[in-house]
Amino acid sequence: MARILLTGKAGNALGELPRAAEDVLAHAENHARAHNLAKRSAFQLALRQEIEAAGFRIADAELAALVEKLEAVRRGDKVESVSVSVSVTDGPTGSRRVTRPTVERDMPNKPVLNAKFFEAERTYPDARARGWYDRLVGIDEHKRRLLLELELLLYPERLSAWSQTHHGQVIHACAIMASRAPLVLLEGDVGCGKTVLAETIGDPLADLAGGKVHLLKVNTQVRGTGMVGEMTDLIVQAFTQAEARADALGGAPLLLLIDEADALAAKRVDQHMHHEDKAGLNTLLQRIDSLRLGGRRMAVLFITNRPDALDPAVRRRAALQLTFRRPDDEQRTELIRQAVPEIELSAKQLRELVLATGAEAEKKFGASYTWSDITDRLIPSALREAYTARRPLTAADLLQHARDLEPTPAMGKGE
Ligand SMILES: Nc1ncnc2c1ncn2[C@@H]1O[C@H](COP(=O)(O)OP(=O)(O)O)[C@@H](O)[C@H]1O
Ligand SMILES: [Mg+2]
Repeated sequence: MARILLTGKAGNALGELPRAAEDVLAHAENHARAHNLAKRSAFQLALRQEIEAAGFRIADAELAALVEKLEAVRRGDKVESVSVSVSVTDGPTGSRRVTRPTVERDMPNKPVLNAKFFEAERTYPDARARGWYDRLVGIDEHKRRLLLELELLLYPERLSAWSQTHHGQVIHACAIMASRAPLVLLEGDVGCGKTVLAETIGDPLADLAGGKVHLLKVNTQVRGTGMVGEMTDLIVQAFTQAEARADALGGAPLLLLIDEADALAAKRVDQHMHHEDKAGLNTLLQRIDSLRLGGRRMAVLFITNRPDALDPAVRRRAALQLTFRRPDDEQRTELIRQAVPEIELSAKQLRELVLATGAEAEKKFGASYTWSDITDRLIPSALREAYTARRPLTAADLLQHARDLEPTPAMGKGE
């Protein structure tokens, strides 16, 4: 963690900021994302606030120089400390409130997020997440199963209450349920809604329990650069930080999301697998196992596009596995209808579209359309054309683009 040391004009030490640079940056980055700000100005703002809260003032040029110095920290380089020149605020609030940098102890309610381990923290309920969740069509069964499993894993008291009502006691089966590893696996083809579902399920979950739900997204670069011990170290730290965060939440559940988890959990028997990665995987498994005993409201969501690359030990531990596939004819019908509700599609046109994105694409290109091929590629390219020509979007546009567009190659057939 990089400490931010404050000095006077003459270079004399004045103290240091209570939060490490990584924490301030991570916080600012989330803020920038949430409010659509440029990252650089979000960093400047966050640093200025931090410095002023400590009872100092900073000149614009000094602030710009500090952001410059912190570029290395943002890249994930190991930096011990940076120093910055500030002046003491005059007036009654000018007392210096600079403390030693034990962030966790000093500020239990402030996020202890480290940009190196986490790319984002989200809190639910969240209207935008709900919007996305609702727009995921045709996977109601996946939604239902994921929600139920997370409810059982994160709110065991609800299961106990059920048992009391229907058995007059907490039956042994509840204890068996509670002793499972709080791990859910979302696997399958790309562009099939795994990431979106994982990042939005917190909203219905919060709804169901009537409180807040938090999500920490592990930085997929957590794999590190392959230095001996580094990956193990990073995993331990990511879990330790997530657990500390969970403890600070006062009982609100925390979801730990590890997207593209195959990078971390590739098969241990894989010949190409570096010794270092094996150690990392073992550590990851241990940390997941110990979550069972920790008594924290915490669950791990694992996402992978390459299920065959996943170590069986991870699969065995999963309380729930959901497999995501490309949409079938019925699901594509629903998806297309929902994507362009204002366009009158005759039954015949809809059938042709479903065929062009399904069986025909399969025949021509060896794969049918993924969900995102339709929402993120087909619709936009048809729309772009209609817009450019300054005329309405029509079923014919959609059909023409559907016949030309090559779907994402199926897994295993080309990269
Ligand atoms: N069931 C679905 N309904 C509607 N759109 C979907 C669905 N699944 C995926 N999409 C679209 O595909 C895009 C990519 O989804 P994503 O969750 O990133 O896929 P994955 O993580 O499985 O690769 C989403 O932004 C969304 O627009
Ligand atoms: Mg994804």
